[in-house]
Amino acid sequence: MKFDRLWQACKPYLRKGRSIDLIHTRISTDFAWRLLREGAGGDTDIVIPAVMLHDIGYARIDDGDVYMKTTFPDKANAKYDTRVKERHLTEGAKLAEEILRSLDYPQGLIGPIVEIVRTHEDLEGNKPDTTNLNRVIVSDADKLYRYTAYNLTSGMALHHRTKAQIYHFMLDRIDTWLSLEISKRIAIEELRKLPFDFWPVNEALF
Ligand SMILES: [Fe+2]
Ligand SMILES: [Fe+2]
Repeated sequence: MKFDRLWQACKPYLRKGRSIDLIHTRISTDFAWRLLREGAGGDTDIVIPAVMLHDIGYARIDDGDVYMKTTFPDKANAKYDTRVKERHLTEGAKLAEEILRSLDYPQGLIGPIVEIVRTHEDLEGNKPDTTNLNRVIVSDADKLYRYTAYNLTSGMALHHRTKAQIYHFMLDRIDTWLSLEISKRIAIEELRKLPFDFWPVNEALF
């Protein structure tokens, strides 16, 4: 399958980064394929590699910082630090370039992919501007992971929220986090898939 060599090359790094990176990246890649299939536009040869590589930089950050200073810590007393987030962008861009070159990925595509890895999120968590559709798709695919049961459950534990609180928080953030109308529909779909005990009956889902 196209991109299989790249995915195999990414996996060791995704296993080394945050505990969620392998499943997060796999699920976000699935969302990116869906957005492309459903007519979001964009260039598959840029979007798919950029999603696979977007969080690879966490592999280059010391375990102590990954676990104590990121939004997905495994420790209850972790303290979020934007410098770690910034480093996953810069280190990720360097590593992405190394990996793509080692696989002889077409030269003209490496620059645009690396640029998306370096800028896939900003430190305040704002949406990307709309000038680069490929980056918009990568950003939406990245954030759609937040709407999966896997992340909602870990979010509850991390932020000490109840199911209803985390569910309403996610519903509220759809317009803030996602750019494409298709992505917003998929986010609602994901919320609709949650078991009944997760959410109070809510008309927004129907
Ligand atoms: Fe990221
Ligand atoms: Fe991500």
